Amino acid sequence: MSKGLRFFKEFLKERKTVGALSPSSIFLARKMLAPIDFEKARVIVELGPGTGIFTKEVLKKLHPDAKLLVFETQKNFCEMIERDIKDSRMILINDSAEKIQEYLQKNGLENADYTISSIPFTVVPSQIKNTILSQAVKCLKPGGIFIQFQYSLNAHKLLKSYFKTVKLDFTPMNIPPAFIYKCSV
Ligand SMILES: C[S@@+](CC[C@H](N)C(=O)[O-])C[C@H]1O[C@@H](n2cnc3c(N)ncnc32)[C@H](O)[C@@H]1O
Repeated sequence: MSKGLRFFKEFLKERKTVGALSPSSIFLARKMLAPIDFEKARVIVELGPGTGIFTKEVLKKLHPDAKLLVFETQKNFCEMIERDIKDSRMILINDSAEKIQEYLQKNGLENADYTISSIPFTVVPSQIKNTILSQAVKCLKPGGIFIQFQYSLNAHKLLKSYFKTVKLDFTPMNIPPAFIYKCSV
């Protein structure tokens, strides 16, 4: 079964968690990763990898000494990533992005240089999204960047309430077209 079809099946089972009908495009992946300085980054956190489109692109560029901590709540997506990606720099966690700090500590890692997030804020309950954003802010290094994509501008106000600066980018080369939020504390 193709990745697109497996993704769609997960969407039908867990609409409120998956929040998209198909995986993101490579064009969106490139825009999401554009702000990252891979020479300097030693800890990158990814929230909601799905089938791992961004995960694979991060690992292509990640420094040999760096770690990528990946949070995904859907067991089936975790199993797909485990099958497809063999890389000792990746730490895959089948748990919620609400627990970033707990897992950074468990793995002896410092705060994140960058966090890339695909959490679908339009459908995720308020309490969960607020916990995720508080954790994301708390677990970023000074000067760190939180990068989020969404299919609308609805998340702008929410992100502005957590981050000092929020810059916007956009790509029409995704289905649906996507906004990329680059947020700094
Ligand atoms: C819109 S999909 C994006 C998937 C992939 N990054 C992409 O761009 O194709 C959102 C993903 O976030 C995951 N997710 C939703 N809530 C989560 C949470 N609280 N913690 C971790 N992952 C979560 C979903 O299971 C899904 O894989």
